[in-house]
Order: sequence, then C-alpha cells, then structure tokens
Amino acid sequence: MDIISLAKTRYTTKAYDATKRIPTATFESLLEALRLTPSSINIQPWKFLVAQTDDAKARIANALVGRYAYNAAKVLDASHVIVFCTRKDIDAKFLELLLQHDEQHGRFKDEAAKQAQRTSREGYVEYYRNEKGDLQRWMENQTFIALGTLLTHARIEGIDATPIGGFDEALLTQALNLEEKGLFPSVIVSLGYRSEKDFNAVLPKSRLGAEHVIEIL
Ligand SMILES: Cc1cc2nc3c(=O)[nH]c(=O)nc-3n(C[C@H](O)[C@H](O)[C@H](O)COP(=O)(O)O)c2cc1C
Repeated sequence: MDIISLAKTRYTTKAYDATKRIPTATFESLLEALRLTPSSINIQPWKFLVAQTDDAKARIANALVGRYAYNAAKVLDASHVIVFCTRKDIDAKFLELLLQHDEQHGRFKDEAAKQAQRTSREGYVEYYRNEKGDLQRWMENQTFIALGTLLTHARIEGIDATPIGGFDEALLTQALNLEEKGLFPSVIVSLGYRSEKDFNAVLPKSRLGAEHVIEIL
C-alpha cells in the first residue's frame, strides 16, 4: 500500500468486534516494531505494558471511568491493549544499561568510542534535566514517536487501532502499580478488528489543508 492510501485509510476505531483476536505472530511483530522505535540519543525511555486477557484489560478499564467512561468499551472489547509508559527519571544504572547494549551490538570500535558515547548521552540528559528543566517532557516526546510507529504498522498489518489519551492518570498509575515501576502512563492503544457498529469507520477523514500546516521556506 502506498503511504497516502495508508494515511487515508487508517483511522481511530471507536467500536471493536470482541470475538476477533489478532494472531499471535502479527501481534508479536507489532511489539517488535515498537521495540525498534527510534528516540533521541537512543534513550528508549519507555515501557509497553501489554494486556491480552480480560482481567488485564479490566485493570486498565479501572482508569476509564467518569468523564473517560466513553473509552472503556474500546479497551474491554479490543483484542490487545498496550499502555505506553514513560520513565519518571533516568539514572546512572539505566544509562549504563543502554551503553552495554550499544557495546553488545558492536557499535564501538574501541574504548574511546564507548567513553565518547557515555559522555555525550550523560551530557544531554543533564542538559534536559538542569538547563532546559523538562526531562520528563523530552522523555515523553520519545514515547509518542512509538505511538506513531504503532499506528502506522498496525494499519500495514490490517489491524484496527485506537490511541487513547482520555484516561484518569492517577487511577491507571494505581491499577498498574506504575509508581513502584518508576513509570507514568502516556497513552493507551487498543488493537483489534472494528465492529460493524463502528460509526467512525464510514466517516470521511477531516484534516486542515496544506495551506494551514505546511510552509515552504
Ligand atoms: C494522543 C492521542 C490521544 C487520543 N485520545 C483519544 C481518546 O481518548 N478517545 C478516542 O476515542 N480517540 C482518541 N484519539 C483519536 C483522535 O481523536 C483521532 O486520532 C483524530 O480525531 C483524527 O482521526 P483519525 O485518527 O480517525 O484519523 C486520540 C489520538 C491521539 C493521537
């Protein structure tokens, strides 16, 4: 499929067919695409929590109450649900883990190259933490790159998806023990197959025209 057809035909699914399941191999390929998402200085500040049982989906739905109740069925009826979380902080241990992986993947020709990477990454983290003062926002920006990755890849695989930003952050943090895991929730994505009752499937797409969003310099 060409990229314009893909962009025009992916859409936010509002109702799922609860009887349909994504094949395991297809879902695993989506997780692998998520794992391969690029990020600033390869910081990978995310964790993707996967719900594939009714129990796990119900835990997430705990946070879809009150003003967010309209999103509950999108989680409960979906085949799989992923909660995109962002790290609350970056510590020396995590930076060392990243460096170890860079090394294992053969990215350093010698010790000096490894040290240069260590210094550069530490410098950026300190810059965002202390000079810019928005380390969490910078980290969460990376997590949202993963969201884009997933929405595109899901469409390529013929899977319907719903990005869900409408949830109670405190309730979701509690339901998934995110505090203890050093994480906060950024966005939820439901995945599966649309129901025949999905009104949004037949609505035309609406976007601002290029004159509003593109400026040629
Ligand atoms: C970060 C983010 C959060 C969103 N949150 C919700 C949500 O809570 N519930 C919902 O039904 N749709 C949600 N949407 C879907 C948007 O409303 C939708 O993407 C937008 O209207 C464009 O329509 P399309 O995705 O069908 O092209 C969200 C989308 C994004 C990217």
